[in-house]
Amino acid sequence: HRHLLGIKGLTEPDINLLLDKADAAVDISRQREKKTSTLRGLTQINLFFEASTRTQSSFELAGKRLGADVMNMSVGNSSVKKGETLIDTAMTLNAMHPDVLVVRHSSAGAAALLAQKVSCSVINAGDGQHEHPTQALLDALTIRRAKGKLSRIIVAICGDVLHSRVARSNILLLNAMGARVRVVAPATLLPNGIAQMGAEVYHSMEEGLKDADVVMMLRLQRERMSGAFVPSVREYFRYFGLDAEKLKAAKEDALVMHPGPMNRGVEIASEIADGPQSVIEQQVEMGVAVRMAVMETLLVSQNQGPRA
Ligand code: CP
Repeated sequence: HRHLLGIKGLTEPDINLLLDKADAAVDISRQREKKTSTLRGLTQINLFFEASTRTQSSFELAGKRLGADVMNMSVGNSSVKKGETLIDTAMTLNAMHPDVLVVRHSSAGAAALLAQKVSCSVINAGDGQHEHPTQALLDALTIRRAKGKLSRIIVAICGDVLHSRVARSNILLLNAMGARVRVVAPATLLPNGIAQMGAEVYHSMEEGLKDADVVMMLRLQRERMSGAFVPSVREYFRYFGLDAEKLKAAKEDALVMHPGPMNRGVEIASEIADGPQSVIEQQVEMGVAVRMAVMETLLVSQNQGPRA
């Protein structure tokens, strides 16, 4: 694979290979000397049209730890402000001979579109409500390290599934790995066809969390809602916010996950986000390792043969 545009199309062996490489990258990141020469001489450009804390900073650190030259394109100060299009912006950067473009954009399919135009690798860092593949990989790595496997574990993905590219990528990955996936949400926050994607649907936290090994909370994306469809925060927290009482339904050693950014007191209580079952900080650590593994896989094997 030259690009990573989504989890769709990846097989169980593809995913296991990436997770195994990421495990090794965790060890590198925990050493005092973190820099390797795996991508020495290669250029990585991060092109983020939407806000990001975790994804952008971890892609930057991942590239630097692999020895690449990393440039963060500051879209807010770029000629996008003057009306330059996504494709023209990408083609301009492409003319500077990067080896990889890491792209986040509000439109589904943006990364796939660029992959057809530019002559380097493209990694999707989140495209609209479509996919966020490196998030699903880092979530899988976090679960696999804690539980020792992904097959047959029960994962409850809770909250605003409708607007979530994280949920889509996770459902695809967890199904490919043989996990059991549930979604727990009010009907208004579920997309059409969710059951066909391979998720069992629940509308109550008590039922959906019963015997779950993993409880994955999602951010309520109020900025993507309008009018009558914006739920009241108090009501939402009461029925779908994860607190100590609701968490009791899950297995005693269930992991609590959240991709971030979190709305404390909206989809998750602070005491749970900071509690003993939370692996939210481990998710962030795994994010750097997974992005190192993805770039190494795309760029090192690519450079072994003649370039197109
Ligand atoms: N999880 C995630 O994508 O976070 P950011 O939006 O901060 O990158």
